[in-house]
Amino acid sequence: MAAGRSFRAPKGTRDLLVPESTRARRLVEVFADLAERSGFGLVVTPMFEELDVFLRLGEATDVVTKEMYTFETKGGDRLALRPELTASLVRAFVQHNPPTPWKAWCAGFNFRYERPQKGRYRQFEQVDVELIGTADPQADVEVVALGWRFYEALGLRRVALKLNDLGDRADRPRYLDALRAHFAGNLDALSEQSRLTLEKNPLRVLDSKRPEDADLVAAAPVIGDYVSDESAAAFVEVQVGLRALDVPFTVTPRLVRGLDYYTRTTFEFAGVGLGASQDAVGGGGRYDGLVEDLGGPATPGIGFGLGVDRTLLACDEEGVFPAPAPAVDVFVVDVVDGSHATVLCDELRRSGLGADRAYEGRSMKAQMKKAGASGAPLAVIVGPDEDADGTVAVRDLRTAEQSTVARGDVVESIRKLLS
Ligand code: HAM
Repeated sequence: MAAGRSFRAPKGTRDLLVPESTRARRLVEVFADLAERSGFGLVVTPMFEELDVFLRLGEATDVVTKEMYTFETKGGDRLALRPELTASLVRAFVQHNPPTPWKAWCAGFNFRYERPQKGRYRQFEQVDVELIGTADPQADVEVVALGWRFYEALGLRRVALKLNDLGDRADRPRYLDALRAHFAGNLDALSEQSRLTLEKNPLRVLDSKRPEDADLVAAAPVIGDYVSDESAAAFVEVQVGLRALDVPFTVTPRLVRGLDYYTRTTFEFAGVGLGASQDAVGGGGRYDGLVEDLGGPATPGIGFGLGVDRTLLACDEEGVFPAPAPAVDVFVVDVVDGSHATVLCDELRRSGLGADRAYEGRSMKAQMKKAGASGAPLAVIVGPDEDADGTVAVRDLRTAEQSTVARGDVVESIRKLLS
């Protein structure tokens, strides 16, 4: 085997090391706590699905047509790494037929073959909730507010909530006709990319960030003029509900999302301090036809996915939700033979404390240096004298105070010093 060549993580992916890795995990814990206190239960689905599950998300969706990691197994199955979580959760809903409303939350990695840049990766994590089985606008309020409360819990203050009503599927053709007519009348003024998009999915043209399209997009018809009375009334109820909770939002009539399944309430959370093209820290909405698309009975649903990586960038931007200091409670310094450290660490850990140690019989000085670097407030030191007396020295690394305690009292004295 050829030696010497080294490797890097694949393009668009990142290794997360301490403390960024623990920070991302804490973020998921904050979300889990909030979701579970709101009645959502954890659901874990596979990271890959039958390719067809995702193809049902829509042929006009880049996420599906251009960005999916697809592969064939040795057994000939056509599978894809999940580009998002909603399709898998809806597939699981149809498969297990749980009682409704079904409130599911999950966290996990998604894969999209995108052009990597800051805040845009080929493997990225999302936290997600889905509330399936009710069209009650109060459910929309609950879901949107849950996202808002999550950002609040992290300490973020500069998040903007954009809200739109995309109407029902039956409302869509009339609006798409109006959009086509609007853009077709001004084709020359439209960027080449948007002309192509117009043929496939006129709605997505509204999402064009190209400066040459800006005027035409700003003058485009808005969906609010084309939605059914029922959808419009539900949207009013959602807004009233959010106001009652003091969740601020801006109705954004040209807000469209990158996935095709959305109906009625649709929303996005933008990190105000992030660059315009990567400012969406999360988004979601209703998908009242998706359960049927995936082979289930007609069932409404709503949910969101929040990007963990981008949310942490927004936290950096605002200087909130710092990485937790990776610290054990005690560092055990053993200058006898190392076996005392093994036994003491085991005892401390079994009693619920955090303990670490050095290896390879290093000098006292080297081990004390490691103790300092570990961030532990206390050190337990065993040298030949302590070994002979059946004692240990307990040193407070914050004050440099040191005392000798009986070997059998070590846990208790550590606890006292920590409290
Ligand atoms: P999405 O808007 O495609 O929606 O993704 C949600 C969030 O995931 C984005 O706002 C962003 O923060 C993050 N994200 C997306 N792509 C990337 C990427 N390449 N790199 C880093 N972060 C990214 C969905 O995925 C829907 N499934 C949300 C949903 C749930 N709708 C209803 N239920």
